[in-house]
Amino acid sequence: MKKVLVLGGNGFICRNLVKTLVQGEDEVYSFDLHIPEKKIPKVHYLEGDFFDDYVLKNVVQGMDIVYHGICTLNPGNSNDKYMQGYTRDLVQTVKLCDLLRENNARMIFLSSGGTVYGKQPEMPIKETVLPRPINHYGNLKLCSENMIRVFNVQNDTDFRIVRISNPYGPGQDYQKGVGFIDAALKRGLAGEKVQVYGDGSVVRDYIYIEDVCNVLAHMGMDPGKHDIINLGSGRGASMQEILSIVKGFIPNLQVEYLPGRSVDVPEIYLDNHRLMKLYPSKLTTLEDGIKKYYEYLKEL
Ligand SMILES: NC(=O)c1ccc[n+]([C@@H]2O[C@H](COP(=O)([O-])OP(=O)(O)OC[C@H]3O[C@@H](n4cnc5c(N)ncnc54)[C@H](O)[C@@H]3O)[C@@H](O)[C@H]2O)c1
Repeated sequence: MKKVLVLGGNGFICRNLVKTLVQGEDEVYSFDLHIPEKKIPKVHYLEGDFFDDYVLKNVVQGMDIVYHGICTLNPGNSNDKYMQGYTRDLVQTVKLCDLLRENNARMIFLSSGGTVYGKQPEMPIKETVLPRPINHYGNLKLCSENMIRVFNVQNDTDFRIVRISNPYGPGQDYQKGVGFIDAALKRGLAGEKVQVYGDGSVVRDYIYIEDVCNVLAHMGMDPGKHDIINLGSGRGASMQEILSIVKGFIPNLQVEYLPGRSVDVPEIYLDNHRLMKLYPSKLTTLEDGIKKYYEYLKEL
């Protein structure tokens, strides 16, 4: 039995991940700023501040596998908060890597397939292209990735980077700055207008959260070393396509078009051949995922 720690375990991706992990045999620890009101049975909860060195050292002690899902920036706020990202998130991630090196633990770093690559001439985007982020969030992830890879090269650590595309599903909150499907469904169900930046042609790679968590869980247990993997659906969908699927459930959906934003790359979808080779799985289709999420939200 292994000890598995999830940093940021109350968040959208990591709370879902914790739920997936407890279905296995391992001892699962969830660390966040607060113990959640709604606890997941069998999970060991740890409370504290990731940026407190003493707390971090104690939390990672004795862990075999650590998922790192704490980031205080997002694509929407990073061009204002970049200094915080480089001086705090990046530095604390270096400290985390150093502690995990000492403890001989494996780490899975949650990076961003939607932002590290920036504008690329060819789709789908392979892991091997030169990443060219256009916002500080993507660049913060890339800086962290490079630091992590140097640990692997110099210290023979087993740190893995997973570039997640655009996850959606239960637990998401578009008001934090990302999540078009979440916004379309929640605003549509509330009878509010869905805001679209630009003309709706922006293409993203949406992946259902359960698929993300199944892959992450599998990846954590996998003894084979590899450093970077795209975790995406392998297919691009425009906002217009999302809106037309959502309209199938909410026919009176109202849409408001706003000027495009400089932080939005026009098209991104990830090549997922490496993912499918290492972790063959049947991914949820966009239509089924939106339907599942719509039904979940309707019951709340
Ligand atoms: N959501 C996405 O679309 C997406 C896509 C790709 C990658 N990622 C990455 O995946 C990770 C998780 O993303 P998310 O959207 O689920 O994030 P989230 O904001 O929902 O969750 C982050 C969690 O970290 C916790 N946290 C923040 N500061 C902390 C601190 N000082 N100490 C302890 N806990 C702290 C928060 O309380 C929160 O529960 C992040 O690293 C993010 O960059 C997210």
